[in-house]
Amino acid sequence: MRIGVLTGGGDCPGLNAAIRAVVKRAELEYGDSVLGFRNGWRGVRDGDFLPLTRAALRNMLPQGGTVLGTARFHPSKKDGSLESVLRILEAERVEALVCIGGDGTLKAANRVAEAGIKVVGIPKTIDNDVVGTELSIGFHTSVNIATEAIDRLHTTAESHNRVMVVEVMGHHAGWIAVHSGIAGGAEVILIPEAPFDIDEITAFLKHRHRSHANFSIVVVAEGAVPAEGTSMEFSTPYLPTGGIVPGSIGERIGHEIAERTGFETRVTVLGHVQRGGTPTSQDRVLASRFGVAAIDAIQAGDTGVITALQCERIELVPIAEIAGKLKTVPPDLIKVAAALA
Ligand code: F6P
Repeated sequence: MRIGVLTGGGDCPGLNAAIRAVVKRAELEYGDSVLGFRNGWRGVRDGDFLPLTRAALRNMLPQGGTVLGTARFHPSKKDGSLESVLRILEAERVEALVCIGGDGTLKAANRVAEAGIKVVGIPKTIDNDVVGTELSIGFHTSVNIATEAIDRLHTTAESHNRVMVVEVMGHHAGWIAVHSGIAGGAEVILIPEAPFDIDEITAFLKHRHRSHANFSIVVVAEGAVPAEGTSMEFSTPYLPTGGIVPGSIGERIGHEIAERTGFETRVTVLGHVQRGGTPTSQDRVLASRFGVAAIDAIQAGDTGVITALQCERIELVPIAEIAGKLKTVPPDLIKVAAALA
């Protein structure tokens, strides 16, 4: 069988581990050949691909980024790009496709599956907001990076008696903020799921600094917003690409805290540092398991599904059940974050 593979959406650590697993499983177990499409769906539309072999992927397991490149482009019926994608797949005799991506990439994968190509998706996003799977590739590494940053900020915060605000990624869901905030011992964790009251935060910080501490760490997800009717007005600024302007809520929170408490405050925006560099062993293992499962699923005749981690097992979940949905941080985890402030 000729199988295509692509990585779409924002990159993350662990993508190469998934590509490697796809190629090894396809070649070794089934004698399949694999084509790698460059720059996500755009490469399929344009017929831009390269043959992928085990030999070409040697030493890729610990490499960050994606050897195939990626793009935030999704084929649609409207502009004719879906038709181009199907034409290229037919011309190149590609019978099945492994699509490694977040919600946008997986939705497009389902459109292609509906047109008759066998498609299996692999969930990746540092934001960890894909429904149906407990973890997505990249999340574990980004939490480690953010936790290390918080640990480092702790020592300088304490030395200077400062409030340190750390902005982490998390457009619609605060998974990175909650996990790194709990792991790093942050005093305040702000996430999109729980709009905040700036007066409560500043009252808490004043009380803490009066009673027993001379420093504080505030972790804020980029998508965090103030609750309606509270004393801080803020509307999230967006880039033309649809992403949030990096640093906007972090800088604003830092400013408000400094103004309202008089405490010396500094802001760190972690940004794309969270998406770069070598994947953790956990992400490498998850990516490898997903890659093997994706090829096994294709060989078993499954299509229109994603590989998903559920209770330590890899399961297949129909894309139609998860597309367009968002996995947000559950209340019990939010409670833990609040309880340890
Ligand atoms: O990968 C998801 C994500 O990290 C979001 O949290 C963030 O808003 C976005 O990507 C930024 O991506 P880019 O700058 O690459 O468009």
